[in-house]
Amino acid sequence: MRKFGLIGYPLGHSFSKKYFEAKFEKEDIQNCRFDLHQIAEISAFEKIVNENPELEGLSVTIPHKQAVIPFLDRLDPACEKIGAVNCIHIKNGLKIGYNTDYIGFKQSLHQWLGNQIPSALVLGTGGASRAVKQALTDLEVDFLSVSRNPGSGLITYEDLAKDPSLMENHPLIINTTPLGTFPKTNVMAEIPVSQLHSGHFIYDLVYNPAITRLMKACLDQGGKVKNGQDMLELQAEAAWKIWNS
Ligand SMILES: NC(=O)c1ccc[n+]([C@@H]2O[C@H](COP(=O)([O-])OP(=O)(O)OC[C@H]3O[C@@H](n4cnc5c(N)ncnc54)[C@H](OP(=O)(O)O)[C@@H]3O)[C@@H](O)[C@H]2O)c1
Repeated sequence: MRKFGLIGYPLGHSFSKKYFEAKFEKEDIQNCRFDLHQIAEISAFEKIVNENPELEGLSVTIPHKQAVIPFLDRLDPACEKIGAVNCIHIKNGLKIGYNTDYIGFKQSLHQWLGNQIPSALVLGTGGASRAVKQALTDLEVDFLSVSRNPGSGLITYEDLAKDPSLMENHPLIINTTPLGTFPKTNVMAEIPVSQLHSGHFIYDLVYNPAITRLMKACLDQGGKVKNGQDMLELQAEAAWKIWNS
């Protein structure tokens, strides 16, 4: 039996498990299973690997995307630059880390906007934002990083409100904060909504609900929007490809 799985904490509802079990069935992929390994401490990682010699691949979610790195033998180059792992391939006794959020975001952005990707604002500075910013760098897209906290290389939501040229000159706005996710759907990042217009594009990494409050604000002004569903599916497919390479 080929084994795959997800490590993280907590693992209430898992997109990955549902996705891979449906994929195994739909594509008649035999002899594979996908298990959830809910581990609060990353020290339990090696035990999982040792107790499951048939384990070939793991997805990694909050809070272990960085903490798992010292337990791995090698990192894929993009993953190394991002400093966060969300996919591990176990092969010939080696554990290799990848970042499929990076792959999924890059592919989905390209599918959406082609080669005409405008300058961007990236809201939030967590793990997902690092994958997004590495993808933008590799696609040679200019971007500014927006945080609640002032810091080097960062602008704040107050800066956006004070200087309308920032939103005007960065028509693509990428939300990497969890704001707007079900069940707290009535909140959004505090960008100055009155500055949105039909030339803006919102890419919200949130995928539940399908239209977040931020996306709705942009649609109301005639702008274009995309949610995180394609990225989610593309990152899962990227993991499957890696596990079978
Ligand atoms: N579609 C996909 O495939 C996909 C993949 C990965 C992640 N995601 C989604 O992306 C989101 C972020 O994931 P993550 O792992 O990067 O989370 P995270 O590490 O918790 O980081 C989120 C960042 O958002 C900002 N933030 C958090 N709470 C906020 C608040 N109340 N108000 C304003 N800003 C806030 C923070 O940046 P500052 O402190 O700098 O403001 C924080 O660093 C999640 O909703 C996740 O589900 C989607």
